[in-house]
Amino acid sequence: MRLAVIPGDGIGPEVVTEALKVLGEVAPNAETTNYDLGAARWHSTGELLPESVLGELRQHDAILLGAVGDPSVPSGILERGLLLRLRFELDHHVNLRPARLYPGVRGPLADATEIDMVVVREGTEGPYAGNGGLLRKDTEHEIATEVSVNTAFGIRRVVSDAFDRAEQRPRKHLTLLHKTNVLEHAGSLWSRVVEEVSLEHPDVTVAYSHVDAATIHMVTDPGRFDVIVTDNLFGDIITDLSAAVTGGIGLAASGNLDITRRNPSMFEPVHGSAPDIAGQALADPTAAVLSVALLLDHLGQKEPARRIEASVAFDLATRDQANPGSTHAIGDRLAALVSSNTRTG
Ligand code: NAD
Ligand code: IPM
Ligand code: MN
Repeated sequence: MRLAVIPGDGIGPEVVTEALKVLGEVAPNAETTNYDLGAARWHSTGELLPESVLGELRQHDAILLGAVGDPSVPSGILERGLLLRLRFELDHHVNLRPARLYPGVRGPLADATEIDMVVVREGTEGPYAGNGGLLRKDTEHEIATEVSVNTAFGIRRVVSDAFDRAEQRPRKHLTLLHKTNVLEHAGSLWSRVVEEVSLEHPDVTVAYSHVDAATIHMVTDPGRFDVIVTDNLFGDIITDLSAAVTGGIGLAASGNLDITRRNPSMFEPVHGSAPDIAGQALADPTAAVLSVALLLDHLGQKEPARRIEASVAFDLATRDQANPGSTHAIGDRLAALVSSNTRTG
């Protein structure tokens, strides 16, 4: 297994260190190569993602990323030039973001129901496509556009993936989130594709919700969601919320998948570089550790993936929720648990 590792900025390197510690316990033979992409490299060389590095990344089985973004770099430079460029170049069309309330974890909701959902976020289109611009710049009549691109091909492949996942889950329920009452054209295309693909999956029940209403339900009745499929921007927003209701952003993992497997998929916590807590060992590395589990699962290493998940579940059920320990302490605990699970099978 050849893995490229991009620790990135802020808490990225802190949580990646712990994730690699845990990986070392389940896959001691994994070969990892570090790539120093991020703010420091941009400052010293002006480079974000050189072609040669992109070529090298393509030679790996998967990529593990911490986070990018730094207050010393104008907003968007690293996010678009590095993270989004990777997602687009490597055709990461499915952005998979599970959100589950683990036993013992107390979310912020008064009535904690069972929460176990997976958001299948479209990863290469929508308003993220970079299709827009400024007209009449620096005049009083300046116009900014950000055109959302939605292709039938792009929607169909992510919707198909979401139905496939729904079919594998006990509840077999899929919810499309959109804003069809306003976004007429994209809304109509998304709805039609969901309807068409649903015919191939008669055992999956289908619901639709406007994304604004879904933010209400995510807080008042999150148990209603099973698989959610949605566009790139709605998916970005709803997965910070799904993370918040399942114990916080420090637990939320994600995979940027090229389902065709032509390119390596990339795994990363949902959170960012958290400059407010960087360098203080306050970051919870659990999201990065669970991202390693998603990575292993994607590469067919189901058993080690399950072992990591079981160790995280045990730790979450037994940790002092108010004081879970430092980044290193949590990483050490998880590595020890995975190691003892490995020995006992
Ligand atoms: P953020 O996710 O970095 O932080 C939001 C809040 O969550 C902060 O209060 C932070 O302290 C907290 N938090 C985040 N991760 C945590 C963890 N593991 N443990 C405990 N608390 C945690 O979002 P932001 O502040 O909006 O963005 C900061 C920078 O990160 C920006 O430059 C942004 O563009 C970038 N960003 C990058 C990614 C990525 O690389 N995938 C994702 C989101 C944001
Ligand atoms: C995420 C982040 C990114 C996104 C940013 C940093 C480009 O918020 O991974 O959720 O919007 O997709
Ligand atoms: Mn986000």
